[in-house]
Amino acid sequence: MTKHIILDTDPGIDDSLAILLALASPEIQLEGLSVVHGNSSTEQGTINALSVLELAKASHISVYKGCDLPLVQPSLLAPETHGAQGIGYAKLSAPQIKPQLQKGSDFLIEKIMSAPKEITLVCIGPLTNVAMAIRQEPRIVENVKEVFIMGGAIRHEGNTTPLAEFNTYVDPHAAHIVFHSGMPITLTPLDVTYQCIFLKDDLNRLLKIDSPITKFISDATRFYMEFHDEYQKIDGCVINDPLTLALTFMPELCDYQELYVDVDLSGGVSMGNVFADFYNMTKKPANMKVALGVRPRDFMELFLERMEKFTLSFA
Ligand code: BDR
Ligand code: CA
Repeated sequence: MTKHIILDTDPGIDDSLAILLALASPEIQLEGLSVVHGNSSTEQGTINALSVLELAKASHISVYKGCDLPLVQPSLLAPETHGAQGIGYAKLSAPQIKPQLQKGSDFLIEKIMSAPKEITLVCIGPLTNVAMAIRQEPRIVENVKEVFIMGGAIRHEGNTTPLAEFNTYVDPHAAHIVFHSGMPITLTPLDVTYQCIFLKDDLNRLLKIDSPITKFISDATRFYMEFHDEYQKIDGCVINDPLTLALTFMPELCDYQELYVDVDLSGGVSMGNVFADFYNMTKKPANMKVALGVRPRDFMELFLERMEKFTLSFA
């Protein structure tokens, strides 16, 4: 059955790959993109979202500008990870299409409320837009079909502080609201995404097809690979966001545990750290399903096959 998906995103190199994977996947009908601050400013992220859609001949998909700042914390962008423009070394022409006038959080509310239990929300940036939408219209909690979130590092080390993952560190208060909202959440933390490394060999396989899309993937991920090599001694790059998207239609890529999960807001060294109550010490009911095991090469094969087929469809 077709999944009606809204991507809430901060494009972003791996966000851009998630947008391409969504467009390349027949299981998905993309209902729109809401953009949030994170890897780059909301302004720049919106331009990136529109440009990637144009590159993939999908300008009919609407893009909505969302929140530009975290709820409480000061802004934190990630130019060292994703480049000054958010798409590494890639240069895309300025988009012809414009974002919609409606605000990102208003779009989430309108779309979810107009199609009860039909919309799958995939959140691959800080959770500010979603938290705002919940505050404004709490009934979206019961009306959204399901929510897939890329965020947190449960047993894994953080990628932004020793304890915290980027999306939850940037807006931990928003993560707190969403985690405790009652929405049906599946979480994809670094525990699984850091096993999914896009290798130089994977890139070379895609580069056998000469196309603007493979060139974009190459120019974007080259920067991302340099970051991973310099900061984390990883050969290749971790493509967190496409894995999260893939779970919407291929859940068997991961193994899950139902857990009570929380995020640290205490303002100390573990600010933004996401932790799970594995031994049920708090006696609180599980508030999400957490992906803790993954078959990385199955995912990568899916990603590569979809990109190849998609790219060739323009030939
Ligand atoms: C997350 O943060 C960003 O750098 C990526 O786009 C991903 O959503 C990983 O921590
Ligand atoms: Ca992201």
